[in-house]
Amino acid sequence: MRVSVSAVLFALAALSGAAAAQVTGTSAAGLEKTRMCIGCHGISGWRTAYPEIYSVPMIYGQHPAYLIKALQAYKSGERSHPSMRGIAASLSEQDIADLAAYYGAVAPTVAKK
Ligand code: HEC
Repeated sequence: MRVSVSAVLFALAALSGAAAAQVTGTSAAGLEKTRMCIGCHGISGWRTAYPEIYSVPMIYGQHPAYLIKALQAYKSGERSHPSMRGIAASLSEQDIADLAAYYGAVAPTVAKK
């Protein structure tokens, strides 16, 4: 019993290690991918201009792990906002990791369009 439990724990640890390594993002790659985000997650008052003005959450400077979780939740449908679901659905795990690395590393005051 003891052996099988530790075997399972080892397998889980190996799996999570592999998953983490697979989705390591870089902010440089993330910056390239923000073109599809800046229209809505721009910085001036954090509002969208189209199709109507409404507030958009500030994602610059958020913790990368939080951003990854949020994007995965839109992708899976756990979060239901239609525009974000559509966008997240088109993102790969690598895109999500890169975008999270970028947005997580940029402070709102220095973010540029
Ligand atoms: C069409 C406008 C639009 C575009 C384009 C867009 N977003 Fe969003 N985003 C929103 C809105 C509106 C919300 C708030 C949705 C809600 O209430 O769940 C949101 C929410 C989010 C959240 C959750 C924030 C939080 O605090 O929970 C993240 C993360 C996010 N967007 C990232 C992105 C990324 C990365 C891109 C580019 C790949 C992107 N968005 C493109 C409009 C947009």
